[in-house]
Amino acid sequence: MKHHDHDHAHDATLEELRQALTREFWDERYGGSERVWSGRPNQRLVEQTADLTPGRACDIGCGEGADAIWLAEQGWEVTAMDVSRVALDRTAQHAIEREVDDRVKVGEYDVLAGHPPRKPRHSEGFDLVSAQFMHVPREDFDEVYQRIAAAVAPGGRLLVVGHHPDDVETGARRPHGPGLLFPPEQVLAALGVEGGSSDDWEVEVVDSPVREQETEDGLMRVRDSIVRLRRRQ
Ligand SMILES: C[S@@+](CC[C@H](N)C(=O)[O-])C[C@H]1O[C@@H](n2cnc3c(N)ncnc32)[C@H](O)[C@@H]1O
Repeated sequence: MKHHDHDHAHDATLEELRQALTREFWDERYGGSERVWSGRPNQRLVEQTADLTPGRACDIGCGEGADAIWLAEQGWEVTAMDVSRVALDRTAQHAIEREVDDRVKVGEYDVLAGHPPRKPRHSEGFDLVSAQFMHVPREDFDEVYQRIAAAVAPGGRLLVVGHHPDDVETGARRPHGPGLLFPPEQVLAALGVEGGSSDDWEVEVVDSPVREQETEDGLMRVRDSIVRLRRRQ
């Protein structure tokens, strides 16, 4: 097996990776086309929330709002957060079009800003905090995911889904090289979950399945990292 960690042609520096997490970068990316993502909810979100009772959810890095809107349609009260104002405006607009704007709020949140997402008023947190493809540099990963996890209420779930580092080997288009990709175990380690549980978290799902994804280069096999944890009461 080839290892690209140090020799991948597109390996980016830490500064370049952090640049890909700024408002300017994403406002420009979203501003450059009418629609960047498909408008369909992420498959893993749909699968992983099927057995949950709707409550208050937070979607970190919500993009154009497909997941937030889908969750609202299932009965969740959703706060959709993103660093990009263009993304948030689009999410709000799509929520109006789909007539779920009474259940979708948007709010600016920068995962690198150093504070946890704001919890709903008069509550101990969200019943579900979802971060789908919210990739951050390895150097920032533990702190970012500890802050995101801090917004989960006792008894609530943290759902993290991302691209698995295997994708670099299989040739899936990953413009920044391996620097932003993570295996599911990295989330567990960031939250101090050793050997399948911790004082704070019960592990419900740790998986890295393959799915087929439509891309500009045709149908590709991609591997997802999936972690679902429940905060102990
Ligand atoms: C790969 S997209 C995923 C969007 C959506 N979750 C999905 O799965 O379709 C990453 C999202 O994270 C947002 N993002 C990037 N940097 C961020 C940051 N520092 N804080 C919060 N959100 C950020 C981007 O604007 C973008 O919408």
